[in-house]
Amino acid sequence: MKEIFEKIRKLVLSYQDKRDDKGHAEIVTSYAFKLMKSEEGNENVIVPAIILHDIGWSQLTKDERMIIFDNSATKDEKLEVNYKHQDASVKLSKNILNKVNYPQNLINEILEIISQHDTRDGFISKNEGLVRDADKLWRFSKTGFTDDLIRNKFSFQQLYNKLINNIKLQDFFYSDKAKQIAYDELEIRKKDCNNDKK
Ligand SMILES: [Fe+2]
Ligand SMILES: [Fe+2]
Repeated sequence: MKEIFEKIRKLVLSYQDKRDDKGHAEIVTSYAFKLMKSEEGNENVIVPAIILHDIGWSQLTKDERMIIFDNSATKDEKLEVNYKHQDASVKLSKNILNKVNYPQNLINEILEIISQHDTRDGFISKNEGLVRDADKLWRFSKTGFTDDLIRNKFSFQQLYNKLINNIKLQDFFYSDKAKQIAYDELEIRKKDCNNDKK
C-alpha cells in the first residue's frame, strides 16, 4: 500500500468498525485492491474512499448505530441513521484528507462517493462502483457472513440463498469481477459449513 494510504489508514484506526463489525475496514479495503487488479479504476480515489467510508459511525450513539440491525425499526428510521453516518463520514474524511494534504481535485470525488455509499440508486462512475462493490463484498466474507448468520438467526441455507439472489439483482454489484468474487466466496462458505458438519 502506498505510504499516503497507510498514513490515512493509521490516522482513522480508532474510528473504524464501530457498528459491531470488527474487521470491516480491513476486509473491504483488501477487496478493493482485488477488484482493482482486473477492473482498474483510480486507486488514488478508491483506496481513500474505501478506508474512510464508514468512519462516521463513530460519531453516532450506540443506539443509533444498532438501528440498522433492529427488526422493529422502520425503513425511515434506518434511512435516517444511514444518512447520518454518511454525513459524519464526509465531515471527518474532509478533515483527514486536508490534514495529509491530499490533492484537492481528488478530495471532491472521494467525498462524493462517501456521501451516498449506502443510499444511492445506481452508480455514478467506475471508481464509485468499485468502492461500493468492495463494501458489499463484506457480506460474502467469512467474517461478514458469520456475523450475519448469528445476528439474524438465519440458517446457512437462508443466508446463502439471500446472497445468491443479491448477486443476481440488477445494480447490486457494479462489476463482473465483484460478482465472480462473491460467487467464489459463497463456495468457500459452503465448503466451510460442510466441513463443520463433519
Ligand atoms: Fe456505510
Ligand atoms: Fe461499509
